[in-house]
Amino acid sequence: MKRTYWKHCHVATMRDGRYNAIEDAVIVTRGKQIEWVGPRGERSASGADECVDLQGAWVTPGLIDCHTHLVFGGNRSLEFEQRLQGVSYAEISAAGGGIKHTVRHTRDATEDALYESARKRLVSLMRDGVTTVEIKSGYGLDLNSERKMLRVARRLGETLPVTVKTTCLAAHTVPSEFAGKADEYVNYVCSEILPTLAQEHLVDAVDAFCETIAFSPAQVMRVLLRAQKLKLPVKLHAEQLSPLGGSSMAAELGALSADHLEYMTPEDAAAMGRAGTVAVLLPGAFHMLQETRRPPVDLLRHHGVDIAVASDLNPGTSPALSLRLMLNMACTLFGLTPEEALAGVTRNAAKALGMLDTHGTIEAGKAADFVAWDIERPAELAYWLGGELPSRTVRNGEWRDLSTR
Ligand code: NIG
Ligand code: FE
Repeated sequence: MKRTYWKHCHVATMRDGRYNAIEDAVIVTRGKQIEWVGPRGERSASGADECVDLQGAWVTPGLIDCHTHLVFGGNRSLEFEQRLQGVSYAEISAAGGGIKHTVRHTRDATEDALYESARKRLVSLMRDGVTTVEIKSGYGLDLNSERKMLRVARRLGETLPVTVKTTCLAAHTVPSEFAGKADEYVNYVCSEILPTLAQEHLVDAVDAFCETIAFSPAQVMRVLLRAQKLKLPVKLHAEQLSPLGGSSMAAELGALSADHLEYMTPEDAAAMGRAGTVAVLLPGAFHMLQETRRPPVDLLRHHGVDIAVASDLNPGTSPALSLRLMLNMACTLFGLTPEEALAGVTRNAAKALGMLDTHGTIEAGKAADFVAWDIERPAELAYWLGGELPSRTVRNGEWRDLSTR
């Protein structure tokens, strides 16, 4: 196995969710894994097959976007204009728009067309240093269309140099053919969609949308319990628009994460802290919906809840093509420090995907996924607003080339 000696760099290891920086560092990779990281003086290049000069770059773990809906048909720029005129997300949803609009376009699209449009969005995230991404279904809402979305997600992971984790979000909203029959739709999700797609190995985790405009806590509970019977980890969209206690429920079930959380209560935060459930904050959706109620970051800190940050890339509430921009927004809109924000797209995002053993920090034994940034301080990652920040990405121990994608 090839051993590479990466030198002349500073490393923000993100161990324990802090920079835990090593200046004038060396990283040694062996095949697809990190073998050693530490100060240059402690390890010579002898025994290495290749020596790479990183020219003073700051190295961080490869970024992890742990919450996206990046496979979808059409887009919702028209609704964006309506919202700017004062129509609310809930009103648009009640009138058959919102998620249902995207469901129509996703059902109509071929698998190849969905793949092509999603690939472009994913490449945009990857140019920003993303090496692992979670992709949800949830715009199909019937067996074949959910399968189509998850197959596209799997194919993205097979054809692009990025690790993809799939999540079945069949309980995203009640499709029009089940209008007024949410419980029947939940039955269908539990008896058909989840077991079939799990058996086809298309599902790495299960999510649901717990909200007045989607599913009640009792309905969500049925979906998550069914997932657990299938031995799949669970997570939940919770407390985005109203406090329903979904995040407490998710925590009690041992969920990997509860996401959004603007309306969470102190009891919810305490339950998540006890369970080790990660809080995934989504500043893109908060910004697009012009929300004013911020997730209670102080409460999360108080209860020792690990905080992740993600793009929520979706056509309605967060058409966000840059995860770094989300770092900035997590700081400016939610009050995270740049260090917390970076932990949110590395160590804590890995935890939110159940991958902390292998990803998310630069430590011996983890995957050799990292980014060498041409910056002077790590806080610059949360400072620049979008654009292309000069960087080079290593995945599985090799430079990743996206120039032809
Ligand atoms: O995470 N909250 C539910 N799902 C998405 C929105 C999806 C949509 O509007 O298409 C979210 O914000
Ligand atoms: Fe979402």
